Amino acid sequence: MNLTQAILPVAGLGTRFLPWTKVVPKELLPIGNEPIIAKIVDECLAVGIDDVCFVINRGKESIAEYFYANPALEEELKRRGKLHQLEQLQRYDNVRFHIVYQEDQLGDGHAIMQARKWAKSDHIAVLFGDDLFAASKPGLKQLKDAYEKYVQEPDGAIIALENVSPENVSKYGIVAPEWSHKDNERLRKVKGLVEKPKPEDAPSTLGIVGRYIIPKSTFDILPTVENGEGGEIRLIDALIKQLGQGMAIYGYECDGIRLDTGRPEGYQRAIKILSELKE
Ligand code: UTP
Repeated sequence: MNLTQAILPVAGLGTRFLPWTKVVPKELLPIGNEPIIAKIVDECLAVGIDDVCFVINRGKESIAEYFYANPALEEELKRRGKLHQLEQLQRYDNVRFHIVYQEDQLGDGHAIMQARKWAKSDHIAVLFGDDLFAASKPGLKQLKDAYEKYVQEPDGAIIALENVSPENVSKYGIVAPEWSHKDNERLRKVKGLVEKPKPEDAPSTLGIVGRYIIPKSTFDILPTVENGEGGEIRLIDALIKQLGQGMAIYGYECDGIRLDTGRPEGYQRAIKILSELKE
C-alpha cells in the first residue's frame, strides 16, 4: 500500500473544553511535555507518512506551527548542548506540513473534503485528533499492516474498530461485519455501516474509532452525500455509498486501549494511562 499522506481534521470548536479552547486548541493540550497532536503525527511517522494536512478553522494555526522548524531555537539548543531536545524538534524536519481551512463546521466528511486538491496518493490516512491508542503498535500501523497482509483488493478502505458496550452504540458509527479473517479475527470484512444506531437497531457492537485509510476515490463521493439537515457531510455516508458501489471495506479491531481525549474526563484518563505506560 502506497501510504504517504495523512489528513488530520482538527477544525472542531472543542466546546467540551471551553473556556480553555477560547484561546488554545484542545489538540495542543499536553500529555507529558508534548501536545496530543504530536502523538497523532508520530503515528503517521511510524508508517512512513511524510506529508500531513491539517484541516483547521481560523485561529488554530498554532497546531501546524508547533511542527515548523525553528532555526533560532535549534541553534540555541546546539550552543547549550541540549542535544536530546534538539533531536526531538528535528524529527519533523523531513515531513511536509500543510494546512487547509474548513470555514464552516459541516461535519467530518466536509472537513476531509477541504483537502481534496492536496490529496495525491492512492490511499490517504485520516486520523481524528480526539482518539489516541495506548498500544505496543500504533493504531494506524495496525490498520496498514492488516491491509497489506490480508486484503487482496487494491482500492478498498480500512477503518479502526472498537468493541463498545451495547448502551454506547448510539454514540458511534457501527459496522455490520460479514466475516472475520480466519488467520486474524480482528480483521472483519464489512457489509454495512450505520451512523449512531439505537441499541435495538445496531448490527453489532463494533464502533468506528478515529483512524481510517481511505482510497482517493472517496474524495469524489464526499460532495455527493450532503445531508439534507444543515448541509452536513459525513465520512460514513460516503463509505456507505462506496460500499453500495462494490468497494471493499474492512474493519480492524485495534489492539490496545483507545483513549478519547475529546472530553475532559477522557483526557485525564489518557494522561494517567500514558504516564503509567511510560514508567
Ligand atoms: P467533535 O464532534 O468532537 O467536535 O469532532 P469538536 O468541536 O472537536 O468538540 P466538541 O464536541 O465541540 O467538544 C471530532 C473530530 O472531528 C473534527 C474535530 O476537530 C475533532 O477532531 N471535526 C469535526 C472537524 O474538523 N470538522 C467538523 O466539522 C467536525
